[in-house]
Amino acid sequence: MNLDDFPRTALAHLPTPLEPMERLGADLSSAELGGPRLFVKRDDCTGLALGGNKTRKLEFLMAEALEAGATCVIAAGGVQSNHVRQTAAAAAKLGLGAHLVLTRNVPPDAARDRDGYDRTGNILLDRLLGAEIRFLPAGGDRAAAMDELAAELRAAGGRPYVIPLGGSNATGALGYALCARELLAQAEALCGGLDAVVLASSSGGSQAGLIAGLAALGHPARVIGVEVDGDREKVAAAVREVAAAAAQRLGLDASEVVARVEVVAGYGGPGYGLPTPEMRRAVELAARREGLLLDPVYSGKAMAGLIGLIAEGRFGADDRVVFLHSGGTPALFAYRSVFEDDGADA
Ligand SMILES: Cc1ncc(COP(=O)(O)O)c(C=O)c1O
Repeated sequence: MNLDDFPRTALAHLPTPLEPMERLGADLSSAELGGPRLFVKRDDCTGLALGGNKTRKLEFLMAEALEAGATCVIAAGGVQSNHVRQTAAAAAKLGLGAHLVLTRNVPPDAARDRDGYDRTGNILLDRLLGAEIRFLPAGGDRAAAMDELAAELRAAGGRPYVIPLGGSNATGALGYALCARELLAQAEALCGGLDAVVLASSSGGSQAGLIAGLAALGHPARVIGVEVDGDREKVAAAVREVAAAAAQRLGLDASEVVARVEVVAGYGGPGYGLPTPEMRRAVELAARREGLLLDPVYSGKAMAGLIGLIAEGRFGADDRVVFLHSGGTPALFAYRSVFEDDGADA
């Protein structure tokens, strides 16, 4: 099925820019080998309430919710979830209620500023956007909690639509299949083609969608997910599952699409939301060389992964490598103290 045939609600500012990262590229290229040529796809600029990757997924998920006659949506995530913030904004824009199930899934001292972590950054924006928030104890079953809440809302006469965790199912992944098409056209125009994309991977829908989109276009570019949860197998399994579902939705051979899934470990550190020294250095380097603001949970760890892959010589000198900046910048404020101190243990 053609991507343009799926129901979609316009929420994002598209196309997002594709820009060269010349100063960062010069910093990271080795004297003997040169390259690769580095570019950044600015999906931090998708526009909806400070943007990020989830807005592309929500264009398709919210269209499905509207088609189903939903009166409200339910989404789940951590206290500093970018996914629920963008969902709350999309709901506000479309006149739907937003119910958020939040877990304190990052240990209390990880951000070393518990008060800030619980009150500023994304959660401040969730409240501003008018979302109803329910907290779940750490380790609680978020999917079950969303189903329970849906039953309560239905009993009260509402028509809730439950957004899958991270917006990662075949429907959400269509947003990134569309991004693959957009990116390929931009890369052809800017640098004559595309060899690899590097991005953060957690619930897997962004990477899965990009792979499915490139496969649909018959393009061989690699899509390398840097897992940010400290659990490569869990993330890789999630990407494979969503990739297979997306392939099926697009009428592609699922096994061929799944075979393209590449997930790199070693940059997630001790776990989701937990800072690493490499993340801090990557966030500072991107800020100081390119004026780019990454985030401590996703894009900072993904950039640390890109830096590591280049150092290992995993790209050719002439490769055109695109870093997908998936957003998350509001969480920088919640992790204030990680960037303020001397970084001894950050
Ligand atoms: C800023 C940011 N980058 C990357 C991701 C990971 O994307 P995915 O869940 O599609 O793997 C997320 C997910 O929450 C995110 O908020």
